[in-house]
Amino acid sequence: MSDWRELEQRRQELTAGGGPSRIDRQHKTGKWTARERLNALFDPGSFVELDLFVTHRSTLFGMVDAKAPGDGVVTGYGAVAGRLVYAFAQDFTVLGGSLGEMHAGKIHKVQDLALKSGAPIVGIIDSGGARIQEGIDSLNGYGGIFLRNTLASGVIPQISVIVGPAAGGAVYSPALTDFVLMAEGIGQMYITGPQVIESVTGEKVTHEELGGARTHARKSGNAHLTFPTEAELFAGLKRLLSFLPSNNTAEPPRQEPAPPPEGAAERLRNVVPQDPNKPYDVRDVIRDLCDGGDFLEIMPDYAKNMVTGFGRIEGRPVAILGNQPRVLAGCLDIDASDKLARFVRFADSFSIPLLTFVDTPGYLPGTKQEYGGIIRHGAKVLYAYSEASVAKVSVVLRKAYGGAYLAMCSRSLGADMVLAFPTAEVAVMGPDGAANIIFRRELEAAEDPAEERKRLVESYRAEFASPYVAAAHGYVDQVIDPAELRTSVAHALWALKEKREDRHAKKHGNIPL
Ligand code: HXC
Repeated sequence: MSDWRELEQRRQELTAGGGPSRIDRQHKTGKWTARERLNALFDPGSFVELDLFVTHRSTLFGMVDAKAPGDGVVTGYGAVAGRLVYAFAQDFTVLGGSLGEMHAGKIHKVQDLALKSGAPIVGIIDSGGARIQEGIDSLNGYGGIFLRNTLASGVIPQISVIVGPAAGGAVYSPALTDFVLMAEGIGQMYITGPQVIESVTGEKVTHEELGGARTHARKSGNAHLTFPTEAELFAGLKRLLSFLPSNNTAEPPRQEPAPPPEGAAERLRNVVPQDPNKPYDVRDVIRDLCDGGDFLEIMPDYAKNMVTGFGRIEGRPVAILGNQPRVLAGCLDIDASDKLARFVRFADSFSIPLLTFVDTPGYLPGTKQEYGGIIRHGAKVLYAYSEASVAKVSVVLRKAYGGAYLAMCSRSLGADMVLAFPTAEVAVMGPDGAANIIFRRELEAAEDPAEERKRLVESYRAEFASPYVAAAHGYVDQVIDPAELRTSVAHALWALKEKREDRHAKKHGNIPL
């Protein structure tokens, strides 16, 4: 007769996954098991497993006898820092974590529950992709995941963790989610693997070069954060979750306010060089602004001319963006535009205020950019900022010229408050270019054109390239002493806390993709 002892025995068998030898193999390759990963994510003892008893019902290709505990995926919910989060973790020790009909059904179920309950979902991917023996049923399963990812987008935060292979169909769910985290040397994502590539194009590439964490963090931009170990990855994942609200109607979680780093105000007075051609690190400004100097940079290794990330001011999460004068002088290019636009849209979906630091000489010139579609990609920036209805605060640190001034959340794109450092230069174009055009005749007639040029550039700079013309026209609301940055930003965010801005009802807009 069936009793609690039988239940206990069944549970033990099923939670052992693919068994000791496969678990051993998993550990030998530096990987954790699905259950170890979920333990690392959730508060101790809080994980509730669903569908432990689900298994496949496939009969072809020897599957009749194939044992597949949980059908190769562990699903459920639990608490992360006390907040409800749903998760699924593919179990590579069971049929290589491959996705069959029932495996997919388990994932669909937690996706549906997360969406209905307004809770974030974390997908932990370690899988050989579609389960080949189950054919079209596996493909159908993936389709269902993609559909749910899309319907949940902008309603609940969705995060993917890549800690093993993610091949073929397995890559598109992560790409549809908000953040992709990868473990170095462990996670690999690609549509077609090295063997297929070699047979089709003759190109030789290793798994790691093709789809490892470094590749996706630096080259493709598919990974938002990478970590040397799984332990660091799960700690980083929890830090990321600490900035995110549970859903699009919830407030971003508030923490105890913390002061900025010691000496921040004084350092801020000196961080932006007077010389407009001298680089500096915009992250020094950001860290000295945030509570406890804590700034979680997102995509730190991709399009480094644009910095994006989360910080807190007076305990409340803020999405921070800034041109990075240290890289390409802070120019906007295709990759920086994509990075910026996607980050703005995430923050706007989840009511996280946008704080933008401006110091850019403009769009990066060149045929590579023009042929690559900088017009279309640059337009994403305009679209994303214009569409965002969350609180938008901009701080002009130094250069804000021309189209790039407009793009970086200018007043005309709907910035609610625009602050400027005294070093700000808000103008239609840089003084050098402007002098060449408006003083062309004087320069041609000059006895010493170089000296005359220098004088005219300076006169243009003094006349127009300061914050005071823009402030006189009301495009800049406040010119601030850099030492007042934190107070000024905190006041602006406080004043905008209840901001409501309605848009015309529509099915959806048509962002230039
Ligand atoms: C069924 C699979 C599988 C799969 C792995 N396994 N992938 N079973 N379907 N897709 C099984 C293996 O047969 C093996 O079982 C066990 O999992 C462990 O796999 P190994 O190959 O021993 O592990 P490893 O050497 O670490 O290599 C991992 C791997 C490799 C790189 C992922 O298994 C691999 O290349 N798999 C196929 C990947 C792939 O082509 N996927 C695309 C599927 S088509 P045993 O019993 O022998 O231990 C697809 C299209 C969907 O996804 C499109 C939707 C849009």
